[in-house]
Amino acid sequence: MVMFKVTRVPTTPIDGQKPGTSGLRKKAYLCKTGATLVVSGDGRYYSKDAIQIIIKMSAANGVRRVWVGQNGLLSTPAVSAVIRERVDANGFKASGAFILTASHNPGGPHEDFGIKYNMENGGPAPEAITDKIYENTKTIKEYFIAEDLPDVDISAIGLTSFGGPEGQFDVDVFDSASDYVKLMKSIFDFQSIQKLLASPNFTFCFDALHGVAGAYANRIFVEELGAQESSLLNCTPKEDFGGGHPDPNLTYAKELVARMGLDKSKPQKDPPEFGAAADGDADRNMVLGKRFFVTPSDSVAIIAANAVQAIPYFSAGLKGVARSMPTSAALDVVAKHLNLKFFEVPTGWKFFGNLMDAGMCSVCGEESFGTGSDHIREKDGIWAVLAWLSILTFKNKENLDGKNLVTVEDIVRQHWATFGRHYYTRYDYENVDAGAAKELMANLVKLQSSLPEVNKIIKGIQSDVSDVVQADEFEYKDPVDGSISKHQGIRYLFKDGSRLVFRLSGTGSEGATIRLYIEQYENDSSKTGRESSEALAPLVDVALNLSKMQEFTGRSAPTVIT
Ligand code: G6P
Ligand code: ZN
Repeated sequence: MVMFKVTRVPTTPIDGQKPGTSGLRKKAYLCKTGATLVVSGDGRYYSKDAIQIIIKMSAANGVRRVWVGQNGLLSTPAVSAVIRERVDANGFKASGAFILTASHNPGGPHEDFGIKYNMENGGPAPEAITDKIYENTKTIKEYFIAEDLPDVDISAIGLTSFGGPEGQFDVDVFDSASDYVKLMKSIFDFQSIQKLLASPNFTFCFDALHGVAGAYANRIFVEELGAQESSLLNCTPKEDFGGGHPDPNLTYAKELVARMGLDKSKPQKDPPEFGAAADGDADRNMVLGKRFFVTPSDSVAIIAANAVQAIPYFSAGLKGVARSMPTSAALDVVAKHLNLKFFEVPTGWKFFGNLMDAGMCSVCGEESFGTGSDHIREKDGIWAVLAWLSILTFKNKENLDGKNLVTVEDIVRQHWATFGRHYYTRYDYENVDAGAAKELMANLVKLQSSLPEVNKIIKGIQSDVSDVVQADEFEYKDPVDGSISKHQGIRYLFKDGSRLVFRLSGTGSEGATIRLYIEQYENDSSKTGRESSEALAPLVDVALNLSKMQEFTGRSAPTVIT
């Protein structure tokens, strides 16, 4: 057995270290001596070097065993599943994971790299932990590393053991997909979905945007479910995502959008019936039908409405459903109809995790292309695709060999006819001067003190828009731990159920990003088929003028519209 020594390396703090970047220095908080840790990610540039460093630091800090997905690949949802489900041949279970990813941000030598830590429940480290890590990055004086530990070949599955001052240390390289595939097979009825994919009138397409979803797509969609290999787009994980922006939306998933017939400049004769994409680390998803976009807010509502009948995992019923505040109220209507517990939480997946750990929530989603359930503690792109395939299978159980396929568009339109439609759009103003963004937000808060005044202004902009009946800054009291989150977005709620929400993004890297969410509820089924931009035009006008967007930011148009 190769023996290694531990080196104590003097160091000094590096300014501006974001929480989660301090590696294994503080084992007291992160990993008990003798722990098993998972290390892997979306395969972006620098991941392979980072994995070797983390292995050497783990060895030097008394970690007993490190699990690495083959080639360093594990999607964020797969990491969550591995922490929660995997027991290795020696009975080891993981107590946490370093996930190497910057999610949907581009990768490569000049692009982003990222690292996050997930806890024993499979979910992201709570702020109490990341704050401590951050404090440590400001005072760090030394770190431990096993410099002479040879690099481990992470391309080959197998166990390598070393001897250190505190005893044996193992690195276990395992198949990236098996645990996750096993979990998916326990949730969904693969045999039935297989029949849908084999049906002559159903066509399928999945785009991994060169992210880690590619490592799962072939196994699940082709090998397990029998889809054709040609239905997979960009499914080879690449360090730079092929130069693209691995974010599954109508702007960045260009190839898929064109193939699905949604790019007017590239008309398609016969696009697939179903298309989907995932982001770099495969936790986000976008679902499309033939020439049809499903908004993430509608997607979670439709999954919730059909879950019990279409997905075996939920057959005993849903414990509850939840959405983030800016996500449309489509899910609220479903919860009401089905008499389900419902929660509206601030933006951020961790709020769902608390509800799930307490057994209060089964299905949840966000407008930012995140959908998931309590099978893990992260959002899950491939799960969302399988959920949609299950719904399609269920809706088509009578006519898989016939001609009258119930399509994605049919399912969405039927949903609107039953529950009403929430017209929805989001305007992003990226890289706005931080001071200007703050002033715009402060002005909107100030306006909220007098609703009659607000309504007077609105009538001057668009006379037939309904009245604002409530305006506030969203605040959330976590029903599980009682913690309070304030200033989670400015809301204007209208009498007819419409909403305007203004928020500053918590994930932008340059300047400030203002997000404006615009939503209008229509429950007259004869009016749910309009063009979204046309239906929302009056509210957009009100939002831009009420907020004085151009005056404060100097921008006459948003950077991105989703
Ligand atoms: C990440 C988080 C989500 C959040 C999204 C957008 O994906 O996991 O919970 O909705 O970022 O956040 P932002 O603050 O930029 O609107
Ligand atoms: Zn992601």
